[in-house]
Amino acid sequence: MRDLFNQPTDRRGTHSSKWDLMETLFDVPPEDGLAMWTADSDYPTAPCVLRALQEATDHGVFGYFADLSRYEAAIEWWMKTRHGWEIDPSWILTTQGLGNAIALSIDLWTQPGDRIVTFNPVYHEFEQKIRRAGREPVQCPLKREGDRYELDLDDAQSRLDGTEKMLIFCSPQNPSGRIWTPDELRAVADFAARNDLLLIADEIHHDFIYPGQTFTPFDIAAPHARDRLIVLTAASKTFNIAGQKTGNMIIPDDELRGEMVQRLRAIDYAPNALGIRMVTAAYSPEGAEWVDAQIAHLDTNRKTFDAAVNAIPGVRSLPLASTYLAWVDFSGTGMSFEEISRRVRKNAHIAPSPGPEFGPGGETFLRFNLATQTARVAEAGRRLQDAFRDLQ
Ligand SMILES: Cc1ncc(COP(=O)(O)O)c(C=O)c1O
Repeated sequence: MRDLFNQPTDRRGTHSSKWDLMETLFDVPPEDGLAMWTADSDYPTAPCVLRALQEATDHGVFGYFADLSRYEAAIEWWMKTRHGWEIDPSWILTTQGLGNAIALSIDLWTQPGDRIVTFNPVYHEFEQKIRRAGREPVQCPLKREGDRYELDLDDAQSRLDGTEKMLIFCSPQNPSGRIWTPDELRAVADFAARNDLLLIADEIHHDFIYPGQTFTPFDIAAPHARDRLIVLTAASKTFNIAGQKTGNMIIPDDELRGEMVQRLRAIDYAPNALGIRMVTAAYSPEGAEWVDAQIAHLDTNRKTFDAAVNAIPGVRSLPLASTYLAWVDFSGTGMSFEEISRRVRKNAHIAPSPGPEFGPGGETFLRFNLATQTARVAEAGRRLQDAFRDLQ
């Protein structure tokens, strides 16, 4: 099964944002460039998902559809067997992916001018979505302690002025790969309660858990927070099907869920039939086996990458507990961010995500997507060593 992840693929010219926008956005030539920015994977999805699509195209009829019961049962099964989380299928609302779910939540539950809290560095789109909606981000820095980030809730508290309405929390955390402990999740729930914040828990990366690590869903750690909790999950990263734009809001509270149901009706949202088929097929015993094999593959990739970049003086890839996104600190090189970025893009021909996009704490970082063939990760390691050869 592991070889499925090492078959060479060429995504150039396939409408892939990661590969086909690389030159426009990062000035990295597609001929020999390595696209390591946006968070999708370069290998095909699981065979069970491909078969479900094949069955759909064999049938050939793509009319309106109804009845999400099998889809909801598959999600219920996945949360229970993979995460020990018992949900009621009626809690599940479907959206056009989680970016859409975040934007909808901001739009429904806050007003223009309201302040929305995040803990940074964090997935850059949180800030973008807050700003685009005319709300104000309150970016509270995480504390870096060695290779780890810690919450600093006292510092966060001191940044609030009482006009905050929402907290968008990433768990596991993108970009650091940090998995929060149940105690930390409870502390975040208490912080939200103290400040009367609606709590959006973005758990999109929850299936990428490396050996020896344990992920706890927010709702299990802090069931007392249910009256303010919106959990976001999706099969999109796990199964590399982000282009099908299907994600879920899991909302245990009847009142909050009722408000979102009404909004989804008002904007005439209905899920995409092919996305539903793909997720239903993915969340299955066969899909679970594929995910386990993928994690073993990614475990090799993170070790390969870290060994190469950590050999460059002044460069540190923080050890990942989760996600396939290596968060690499170049501060020890003493170079400006512009020089670091120039060497990586123009000398190594690699396009990673720029750390400053992730807000306070990301100034000296680049984020490298490792969800690709191991040979590509090794090649990236060699190119980075060459680009900083003068430091060795
Ligand atoms: C934490 C987090 N949330 C949401 C998204 C976007 O999800 P979607 O593709 O479902 O819109 C990403 C994508 O990288 C992410 O890392």
